[in-house]
Amino acid sequence: MSEVDEMVLTYAAKRASRALLTTPGRLDPYPHYAVLRDHEPALDTDTGWVMVSRYADCDRVVRDADFRVGDREWYAATFGDEALRDSSRLTQDSMLFTNPPRHERMRKLVSWAFTPRRVAAMHASVQARVTQLLDELADAGADGSTVDFNTAFAYRLPMSVIGDMFGVPEQDRAQFGPWAFDLDATLELTQTRQDLDRADTAAAAMMDYFTELIAHRRRAPADDLISGLIEVSNADTGDDRLSPEELLSNIALVLVNGFATTNDLASNGLALLLEQPQLLDRLRADPGLSPAYVEEVLRFESPVQLVMRVVGAPTELGGVSLAPGHLVVALLGAANRDERRFDRPEVFDPARANNQPLSFGAGPHFCFGAALARLEARIAFADLARRFPRIAQAGPAVRRDRLTLRGLSELPITIA
Ligand code: HEM
Repeated sequence: MSEVDEMVLTYAAKRASRALLTTPGRLDPYPHYAVLRDHEPALDTDTGWVMVSRYADCDRVVRDADFRVGDREWYAATFGDEALRDSSRLTQDSMLFTNPPRHERMRKLVSWAFTPRRVAAMHASVQARVTQLLDELADAGADGSTVDFNTAFAYRLPMSVIGDMFGVPEQDRAQFGPWAFDLDATLELTQTRQDLDRADTAAAAMMDYFTELIAHRRRAPADDLISGLIEVSNADTGDDRLSPEELLSNIALVLVNGFATTNDLASNGLALLLEQPQLLDRLRADPGLSPAYVEEVLRFESPVQLVMRVVGAPTELGGVSLAPGHLVVALLGAANRDERRFDRPEVFDPARANNQPLSFGAGPHFCFGAALARLEARIAFADLARRFPRIAQAGPAVRRDRLTLRGLSELPITIA
């Protein structure tokens, strides 16, 4: 390839990376991902990040110890202690923002409270929540009127499930969604000052709420996740249990990570199925297909489109040399559409073989809630198909203007 050709390709890739920072690019990032994968699979952008878009490279970034998450020490060294905002203060002592050995210690402790037994035991309560919300949806849509699937179901399901898991009263749960959505803005590649201020307000409210809830559960333990986490924590910092800061931070993390993502999985998924009613028919005839449907929704419209890392040791990725401190953006949504890994990736095909999208990440930070999110979505899709044979889209879906967390804010449907 001539030098001029190379310059043209790099220029196209840089344009694609910049497009991802605009509203049209966020709403439909896939053509830009394709340009990045083909022309500059590891693009050193002008904005100080290296954007990685192929499956193999993204997989390495999330698994390999050369790449670290931006932890408290990195944050202080990069921005200074005084720049720490409430939104970062809330989650910086959680698993997601810590590296080994602290991360391993914490993940082990939290897994004691979040055992497969506890998740399996949630099957009945998740099923009950799905049934209850679908009953209400059936009532609202029985006369043929249009119902917004997002507010009626997709948003309320994770709110109910996390509320049950935390064991908090129904009236407290209404604030969970707005808190999670406001805080999730900090995961985007760009934020406005207003986004950051809103995230801080949500973080301060969450700190107050969970501090009080923890104090309450210390006095009166119950059979819930908060009490389980208190059991593996200690009121004083200093031994190998969760410190008070880690306890609070990991509880907040479960809410921040588990809410919008699961909401988006349900809405993105139903929108895809409504585009191809024959797929809904197939699922109705064989509910056992639901797990494969969920994996394909995760691949095709990943609720988490990217994760960030900081280079820890000198290394090379996609032909680019990386020095410690370099920021890397692993575009999971682009990796999931990589034709080097998936046959005909632009086709939504729940029957595809060997479907292992990177939507829950991989390696040390692999999603802690994957089993729960899968459980919720598998039950939801199977029951939606079974209960509503006439379900149809009743108007245009509205997509949220975010890149990192991809989802819908409205999905109008009719069921009668
Ligand atoms: C469809 C739904 C979900 C998706 C797509 C998703 C995606 C992800 C991804 C990509 C990561 C890795 C982040 C990274 O490597 O930087 C992650 C981590 C995490 N997720 Fe999820 N998630 C979902 C649901 C949940 C739920 C329901 C919970 C909790 C009940 C949860 C809790 C967590 C936690 C605690 C971590 C941090 C793990 C660690 O750092 O070791 N997630 N999730």
